Amino acid sequence: MGKILVTGGAGFIGSHTCVEFLESGYEVVVLDNLSNSKEESLRRVEQITGKKVTFYKADMRDAAAMKQIFAENEIDAVVHFAGLKAVGESVEKPLEYYENNLNGTFVLLAAMREAGCKRFVFSSSATVYGMHNPVPYVEDMPTSATNPYGYTKVMIEQILHDCCNADPEFSVVALRYFNPIGAHKSGLIGEDPNGIPNNLLPYIGQVAVGKREQLSVFGNDYDTPDGTGVRDYIHVVDLAKGHVCAIEYAAGHKGFMPINLGTGNGISVLEMVEAYSKACGFPIKYRIAPRRAGDIATSYADASRAKELLGWEAHETLETMCEDSWRFMQRNPNGL
Ligand code: NAD
Ligand code: WQD
Repeated sequence: MGKILVTGGAGFIGSHTCVEFLESGYEVVVLDNLSNSKEESLRRVEQITGKKVTFYKADMRDAAAMKQIFAENEIDAVVHFAGLKAVGESVEKPLEYYENNLNGTFVLLAAMREAGCKRFVFSSSATVYGMHNPVPYVEDMPTSATNPYGYTKVMIEQILHDCCNADPEFSVVALRYFNPIGAHKSGLIGEDPNGIPNNLLPYIGQVAVGKREQLSVFGNDYDTPDGTGVRDYIHVVDLAKGHVCAIEYAAGHKGFMPINLGTGNGISVLEMVEAYSKACGFPIKYRIAPRRAGDIATSYADASRAKELLGWEAHETLETMCEDSWRFMQRNPNGL
């Protein structure tokens, strides 16, 4: 089937994607500097699949380490997750974000070119739709950003587009994730953020296990059915499967192709609180707080391109997303 280099493979989405590649018969090589993850996640990937992961603890900006990986492994394709991803932190530390995310991608692309590897799947984000496009978001809409993290995604997409123009043999799928949540059904891997969670689901999960007092709902005066923010939450296992489809699509199609990975359904913060409360069997405590700077009212995907080109669509429900997240939190209240 082939050997896939997964950068950032020890992280939340990367670890779930390793499982799906291994279960589809691929070999997996992971590069991760463990700046936001633990090697334990890869041991659990091996436990779930009964297969080996080749792991390099290295920084993607380290050109010598990157070169060594391509020299020691015949890499057929790359799935590029590695990057810093906290929106608020990117506003505080723009240089760190641009330096890590952009330079890391440059070093990776240079090593791929040297090794003659021409298949690439990139972790992009719905954040590239910016503040002004109407929902549902369609891939042809203009991209923009509102913070340095978002700009790294916009810029890397542009760079990849330019690389495809320069080399007609190069094939890139930029997967624009909506809001990945949930966990593997085994309860062995899931989302394990450092410090206070920025995102809704890990925060709710920590309230549920008693690590946080209550959720702050950021605004209930948006122009949405119940006034709280609406997002397109997608189960991380569905999302992970989309990467296997994208790698297979890229084998037969050259050029740059952005593709949304979402469900196409919008869920409000209060609907999510209710769904999670049902999954864990007791109410999640919350209070209404002021809006969070930079948030938009509503974001959800037009998911038709993924279905058309990749033959992929999301199958999990809001209910299973919450149940799977809760199972992971119960089994790993203190993370991995
Ligand atoms: P994560 O932090 O769990 O995973 C990213 C991994 O990259 C981590 O394991 C981290 O240690 C590693 N990493 C960071 N810098 C590195 C470097 N210089 N060298 C080597 N490894 C490095 O995040 P995630 O949620 O799994 O996200 C994966 C990708 O998907 C990221 O690019 C993120 O921007 C993108 N994305 C995430 C979301 C989301 O909501 N989780 C949404 C859209 C896009
Ligand atoms: C979801 C909703 C909040 C926390 C972010 C990034 C985006 C992408 C995914 C990477 C919003 C509300 C949240 C809380 C709350 N990441 N909320 N209380 O903002 O859609 O997207 O993560 O690419 O780039 O911006 O996700 O989970 O932070 O918020 O009320 O404690 O939950 O206001 O409506 P978001 P989120």
